[in-house]
Amino acid sequence: MSERTAASVVNSELRSALTNLVGEKGCLFDPQDTAAYCEDWRQLYQGQTPAVVRPASAAEVASIVRICAERRIAIVPQGGNTGMMGGATPSAEGSQIVLSLSRMNKIRELDVVDLTMTLDAGVALKTAQEAAAAENCTLPLSMGSEGTAQIGGVISTNAGGNNTVRYGNAREMVLGLEVVLPDGRIWNGLRRLRKDNTGYCLRQLFVGAEGTLGIVTAAVLKLVPRPHDVALAFCSVPSAQAALDLFVLCRRYHPGSIQAFEYMCGEIVDLVFKHFPDTRSPLSQRADHYVLVELADASPDAGLREKLEDVLGKAMDSGVVLDAALAGSSAERLALWQLRENFSEAQKREAAIIKNDVSVPVSKTPAFIAQATQACARKFPDIRIMAYGHLGDGNIHFHLFPAVGAGNAEFLKLDHAIMDTVNEVVRRFDGSFSAEHGVGQLKAYMMEKWRGGVELDTMRRIKTALDTMGIMNPGKVLP
Ligand code: MLT
Ligand code: ZN
Repeated sequence: MSERTAASVVNSELRSALTNLVGEKGCLFDPQDTAAYCEDWRQLYQGQTPAVVRPASAAEVASIVRICAERRIAIVPQGGNTGMMGGATPSAEGSQIVLSLSRMNKIRELDVVDLTMTLDAGVALKTAQEAAAAENCTLPLSMGSEGTAQIGGVISTNAGGNNTVRYGNAREMVLGLEVVLPDGRIWNGLRRLRKDNTGYCLRQLFVGAEGTLGIVTAAVLKLVPRPHDVALAFCSVPSAQAALDLFVLCRRYHPGSIQAFEYMCGEIVDLVFKHFPDTRSPLSQRADHYVLVELADASPDAGLREKLEDVLGKAMDSGVVLDAALAGSSAERLALWQLRENFSEAQKREAAIIKNDVSVPVSKTPAFIAQATQACARKFPDIRIMAYGHLGDGNIHFHLFPAVGAGNAEFLKLDHAIMDTVNEVVRRFDGSFSAEHGVGQLKAYMMEKWRGGVELDTMRRIKTALDTMGIMNPGKVLP
């Protein structure tokens, strides 16, 4: 397969088979039209594809898979193309077809009694959130890419985001799935049951599989009642340890109400002010460390603002918090979240980045940041380090940038050396080299070292059992 060129893969017979199936508007063959599907959001990978196919139904997805399986053509499923690991980008040699789910964008059903939503894989996460909100419910998955990220991709990467501390990752929200298997059969597992102990939990196999086992075409997701009382505070704290102390304090007083607890170093917040100059800090003084903490409750009378003020007052008395500003209106709340959600874009505008999306036990987050900073500063003295993340669930984004004015290309050559240095520290804390961004192609080389032996062997057996010809997103996840 690898030596096949784009031209030899999509011959005219295949072109007409695909076009007959999904129509002219469902197929892109011109490199100018397919280019956007061949590059990942971070612009680390530039692939090539002979065709982007855009089916409008699960039946069409199944037919495309059968057409490809008959010809042993590899398929790269793609949603909003917002992934961080190159998991949805075709390879550079140009033989892999991109299957975009974006035309499958219907919300099929929303049930306010069952608190479930059944929707196509190509629905944007934000559209799904808005549909839930319109029915007084919440889909509690929130991340900077939500305007573009699609449900199928969110599920296939088991995305996390800002609310994992309370609701878990995408995995925890999936009650049912519809999946097209690598042989072209459709598995309809769109059940919305809270209890269903009937053999292996197949749906969870496809969550986080990054399209290597099949193509998620629809899902049933759990919703929660919409919170009617929300309190959000942006605080400066003296250190990452103080951020953790504040988390423990909030949890002691309001264990059921914390719905986000984000740590951010001062430099990453500075980057947002630099690249989004309209952003205003709610605090009068710059700090080296900040926390964004949000409490939420379904009851409108929960008194969360007073409760949060009370905890922050205690934290200030003990020196854990330096200063704090509470959002006084929903506009202020949105502005604070916008500041946080602009992190990814601000970094992209700044320079090339080597991202480490790692997790350690929550209690070890400050020690991890300190030790990883020390290890990197020793080996790579000129680079800039910025750490932030979802401290409440132990997920730290430990990002490195070239020195101001230094070239991006030279810097990116250090990616394995830097990631391996950070991961040595992660290992000391028995953490994970990928907390919420998945493995894709960027981190597939780490799998042998981290998951080798029984675990990787079992993953490979599952892969070959389902994808006998190896056509589903090859080169991703498994080395
Ligand atoms: C975030 O939490 O901002 C993203 O997951 C991190 C990233 O952009 O790498
Ligand atoms: Zn994140």
